[in-house]
Amino acid sequence: MSSTANTASHYPTIHKDPTAGPFNMKDYDALYKAFKWEQFADELNLPRENGINKATICIDGHPPEVMERKALIWHSAEDKQEFYTFADLKRETNKFANVLKSLGVQKGDRVFVYLERIPEIFITLFGALKLGAVVGPLFSAFGPEAIKDRLEDSGAMVVVTSPELKDRLDAIRADLPALKHVIIVDRKHSQLHPPQAHEVLYSEAMAKASEQFTAPYTDPDDYSIIHYTSGTTGKPKGAVHRHAAVIAQAATSKYILDLQPETDIYWCTADPGWVTGTSYGMFGPWALGATILVYEGGFKAEDWYKIIQEHHVTVWYTAPTAIRMLMKAGEDVAARFDFSSLRHLCSVGEPLNPEAVVWGQKVFGHVFHDTWWQTETGAMHICNYPCLDVKPGSMGKPFPGVEAGILDEEWKPLPAGEEGHLAIRPQAPSIFRTYWHKEELYNSRFKNGWYITGDRAKMDEDGYYWFIGRADDVINTAGHLVGPFEVESALIEHPAVAEAGVIGKPDPERLEIVKAFISLKAGYEPSEELEKDIKNFVRTRLAAHAYPREIEFLAGLPKTRSGKIMRRLLKARELGLPEGDTSTLED
Ligand code: PRX
Repeated sequence: MSSTANTASHYPTIHKDPTAGPFNMKDYDALYKAFKWEQFADELNLPRENGINKATICIDGHPPEVMERKALIWHSAEDKQEFYTFADLKRETNKFANVLKSLGVQKGDRVFVYLERIPEIFITLFGALKLGAVVGPLFSAFGPEAIKDRLEDSGAMVVVTSPELKDRLDAIRADLPALKHVIIVDRKHSQLHPPQAHEVLYSEAMAKASEQFTAPYTDPDDYSIIHYTSGTTGKPKGAVHRHAAVIAQAATSKYILDLQPETDIYWCTADPGWVTGTSYGMFGPWALGATILVYEGGFKAEDWYKIIQEHHVTVWYTAPTAIRMLMKAGEDVAARFDFSSLRHLCSVGEPLNPEAVVWGQKVFGHVFHDTWWQTETGAMHICNYPCLDVKPGSMGKPFPGVEAGILDEEWKPLPAGEEGHLAIRPQAPSIFRTYWHKEELYNSRFKNGWYITGDRAKMDEDGYYWFIGRADDVINTAGHLVGPFEVESALIEHPAVAEAGVIGKPDPERLEIVKAFISLKAGYEPSEELEKDIKNFVRTRLAAHAYPREIEFLAGLPKTRSGKIMRRLLKARELGLPEGDTSTLED
């Protein structure tokens, strides 16, 4: 690798070997023009004789020698390890599919998994997929409000959970008439109460279940997974993906993550509750037959480094906040570990600062390759590949098969160098098919044949894309999207809160933090204690990652004459920016 000046980010371009990895970037233009997604499905040799079922493709359908390979290495928070081959997973997911069948679950029913990062997440999700159920992962940091929104909206029939998380579900069960069965995975044998009538003990049901199961025919367009994602207004909406999405997830795992299944140990640090944790923590890598490492523990620089060293991780997919936290921990910590196994590093979820790209090269011997995509795109869309020159700070180029554009306010393409709406032609098999029961909202995301991503960006003369920011009020805190409305709704349920306006405040480590402006009801006075109480209220009811880390009490919030809180104005005032048009502001 060598470097030349890169005008766009003031960081030199890092030159790569154009023939490195599976793409030959010398032929990028030709490849881009000739690319067909169907070709990939053929090339990847995915088993498709019984339609396309993610469980069959990722687990059951590998050749015999791959079936004996480790599919999952699980490293627990207590430093214990478990291994599952593809054959093990085939057996366990067959059993779980039979458990669901015996409960009356049918194709299309929604099965949600609300578990800590344990192997049963994988077994139950894939077991449900095998049966043709539509699965939904729930982040274990969610509180009762967050899980209620999702289970209610999707009409979930089954939830798989643990004794530790079950209390949060019990708190809202009465509001979920469609929820018929709760399956409890009691790894630690900590079952606090005897199971209630609607509850099933996973271990008992699995012990009785047959190991034989044949997936029914699955149409490539059948729904496979729902991921709830936040928007500017309203509650989170369920982006629905189809089984065929696995083609794009597998192709990008091969060409962007550069997975070499015979030899790689691949670590994706994303939680399975989010789209990265499924598209690239399960589907793409397993469709290729690669070995996935899952670490149950949380973030701590030493622990993460130890995981890489101990498991000889070769390919690592992580996120900018984590990289910034590793940078903060210092190079002396990193220097105590052996990273010679690492071969390829990628990042997603937030803009990756050029410093972080280059720091990777210094500490691990490899740059971090930024990748851009969304819950809605289901797979990586704009990326840095192993063989593409890296312009630090850029998201890279569209994957062949992806047409991207920068559009003006009339949804027409802008020339290179101009900032506008980042848009994608909805071509990849992974692009979402709808928002669950919100067809109108789904349709509103498309203009002139483009899917409008909600991000602002620009493209340079070389076809590289540069992220500018969100076009809406959605907050990105440590790579997790948070809708201000969700937080405001949780806040006003607190007895002291009269009104709340929520914004994302720039933060050097987490990109943004959630900041709330609050006016109090008569009889309440601002105090440190009240502030703490309100924070805790949102943290436990909504989610540990979405509570306001900062609260400012105001006598009243700026509102339009129609009574809408002007978040834009709150943000401008917070950042000391011009307030813009305030003609609609109430007197
Ligand atoms: O704003 C962009 C940001 O995260 C959003 C998508 O979030 P989500 O649907 O939760 O999916 C996250 C993981 C795929 C995008 O609209 N984002 C994602 N990747 C990048 C990014 N922003 C800048 N650079 C990225 N590489």
